[in-house]
Amino acid sequence: MSSEDSESTSPRTVQPTAPSRRTFIKSTSTVGGVLVTGALVSGTTSLGTAVAAPAEPPKNFEVTLTVNGRRHTTTIDTRTSLLDLLREKLELPGTKKGCNAGACGACTVLVDGKRMNSCLILAVRLEGAEVTTIEGLADGDELHPLQQAFIDQDAFQCGYCTPGQIMSGVGCLREGHTGSSEEIREWMSGNICRCGCYVKIVRAVEQTADGK
Ligand code: FES
Ligand code: FES
Repeated sequence: MSSEDSESTSPRTVQPTAPSRRTFIKSTSTVGGVLVTGALVSGTTSLGTAVAAPAEPPKNFEVTLTVNGRRHTTTIDTRTSLLDLLREKLELPGTKKGCNAGACGACTVLVDGKRMNSCLILAVRLEGAEVTTIEGLADGDELHPLQQAFIDQDAFQCGYCTPGQIMSGVGCLREGHTGSSEEIREWMSGNICRCGCYVKIVRAVEQTADGK
């Protein structure tokens, strides 16, 4: 063995080797895993501070609201829409579910006097609210003038959109957006009628606005 060979293999002359890519990735992923695990599972930060787990939001909630003049106190899933509360819990199926996404107006009701799409409102937010649905519009046997106008003008075919059209029409009348047929069309444009009864629906609103 030459003196050169012995020098190159001597422990005193071996240089520290850089970690290979494989070793580096293995070691850093292990450290990262420990940090992530520590933060998320054990609920401690990297500084060792204890972190409280976020509280679970309540799944059920009690709400009191008035529907068609009748007060209801009921416990509901916090995700319940006003539409589902009306139809499935309060047994008021007159309000219709069309798109269930705020696009058709079939579910229109009055909340504190303002027309709204009930499919878009969480019922838990309506503590103390006054809701009027199509079932609450007539005065006993006497129809609301707009209900009567829909009959007079023959403003429906299948009738599925009609409760929403009438409730929206009541809102439109109260808001005073009845100066012309164009204005009525514009302010009723959120209510879709697949049967295409728009001309007669506008006439019904006009009839009511004119007090005929
Ligand atoms: S069902 Fe609410 S807007 Fe269509
Ligand atoms: S009357 Fe059928 S959708 Fe309007």
